[in-house]
Amino acid sequence: MNLQDFVKLLRSRWLTVAVTTVAAVLLAVVISLLTTPLYQASTRLFVSTTAGSSLSDAYQGNRFSQERVVSYTELLMGQTLAQRTIDKLGLNTSAEELRQKVVANAKPDTVLINVNVLDKSPVTARDIANTLSDEFVNMVRELETPEDGARPDARVVVEQRASIPSSPVVPKTARNVAIGLALGLALGIGLAVLRDILDNTVKDRDTLEQITGAGIVGTIPLDKDRRKQPAISFETDNSGIAEAFRKLRTNLQFLAVDSPPRVIIVTSSMPSEGKSTTSINIALALAEADHNVVLVDGDMRRPTLHKYLDLIGPVGFSTVLSGAADLDDALQRTRFPGLTVLTSGATPPNPSELLGSQSARKLINELRTRFDYVVIDSTPLLAVTDAAVLGAASDGVLVIARFGQTKREQLSHAVEHLASVGAPMLGSVFTMMPTRGSAAYSYDYSYYGTEADERSNHRPASSGPLALGVAETASGVGAPAQEVGQAVGRRRRRESSD
Ligand SMILES: Nc1ncnc2c1ncn2[C@@H]1O[C@H](COP(=O)(O)OP(=O)(O)OP(=O)(O)O)[C@@H](O)[C@H]1O
Ligand SMILES: [Mg+2]
Repeated sequence: MNLQDFVKLLRSRWLTVAVTTVAAVLLAVVISLLTTPLYQASTRLFVSTTAGSSLSDAYQGNRFSQERVVSYTELLMGQTLAQRTIDKLGLNTSAEELRQKVVANAKPDTVLINVNVLDKSPVTARDIANTLSDEFVNMVRELETPEDGARPDARVVVEQRASIPSSPVVPKTARNVAIGLALGLALGIGLAVLRDILDNTVKDRDTLEQITGAGIVGTIPLDKDRRKQPAISFETDNSGIAEAFRKLRTNLQFLAVDSPPRVIIVTSSMPSEGKSTTSINIALALAEADHNVVLVDGDMRRPTLHKYLDLIGPVGFSTVLSGAADLDDALQRTRFPGLTVLTSGATPPNPSELLGSQSARKLINELRTRFDYVVIDSTPLLAVTDAAVLGAASDGVLVIARFGQTKREQLSHAVEHLASVGAPMLGSVFTMMPTRGSAAYSYDYSYYGTEADERSNHRPASSGPLALGVAETASGVGAPAQEVGQAVGRRRRRESSD
């Protein structure tokens, strides 16, 4: 993984990093809040020895004091002095416990000793520090006085007495938060990398192309509005998702230029990967280009097109196949110009059989003669065989892969499924591609040309391949006047309605 990959990874998994970091910081704050505050009171002791009058005596005396200082720090933290302090203050604690609260250290090459005492109470901390220091002065006097009662060899003075500490030294909230932040970040990044290693969903164009063995026909962005209203109003909509479907339409027409696919099955490996929403909008994008399109709900198990398009559900595909209704009665015109819908009809007990029947093939052929395009929404390939069965009777199958959701094995099994029944694969469609974050980088339309090029491509299917020939130059000098006029007219209509 190079630096670029790492930055991409962080961008796509920023939430993991953020959540882990925030959790670690919160933990640090909670720990700090739960920690009993401890106050520290400090004294400073000065150690001196009896020095002679000469310079060398003074030097010797100083060396002697420095050596003494090391032993004194041990005595300051010792059991005896602790007990003497307890007795003096009348504390209800053991000498061992008090020892734990005292830290004495000597500054190197000096005759100074710092004594720090920690306690829950700032007053007690001060009292212990002062009493312990006073007791130590006495103790040193006793220890250093020769038996003959001569002057002591060394003495200790409390050079600085303790005062009541105003704020606790424990917990160190700022330090804890900083540690929490650093650990949280490290953990978050570690988790993000781990999740990335374990993530086997399809997230980039190369992987999708490699697994499907076919080109990507479209890249559809995630658009929250589609959850409320699956159908895009192409007449007025120039948003990213509308443009993505227009480009998908152009690419569809580029496929098999000599005999462009007109009966198209839309499927995917698993449920909820965006098949129905994508089918609707492919059909609408084709209809926007003045094609006469029929959208068929080939998902007889969990039909949704009638709900997504506010149509009547019970009379549809299965009803016509069973002979209970005429095709003309079952076809429903929609509020979208150029789009007719054949809903799925009542759910039959044997959808796969029904869809694989001769009647189904005849019906699809009938639709082919009446419409420029037949777009058929279907079931997930790994759940049931319906889509594969329909695929075998079609001009080609578009396989949807949902960004970050469809797993690589699922997709490859789905593609194998199609191949095993001889269903022609048109290509794949990446859907619900995030428009922000690292994924957005691979979401690039420029490859497909400009909007103006695209708009001027619209032609009835019968002239599809020819139209494509013109399309490449439609915005340039060679474009027929009528093509350009249509494109400009459509654009004006759109602009005036904005
Ligand atoms: N481009 C998109 N942006 C945002 N949400 C989308 C997009 N496409 C589909 N969705 C949402 O994803 C969900 C599943 O979509 P849809 O019903 O089209 O999937 P499906 O593959 O047909 O599901 P099923 O397997 O149940 O038939 C729906 O809530 C839909 O609104
Ligand atoms: Mg569906």
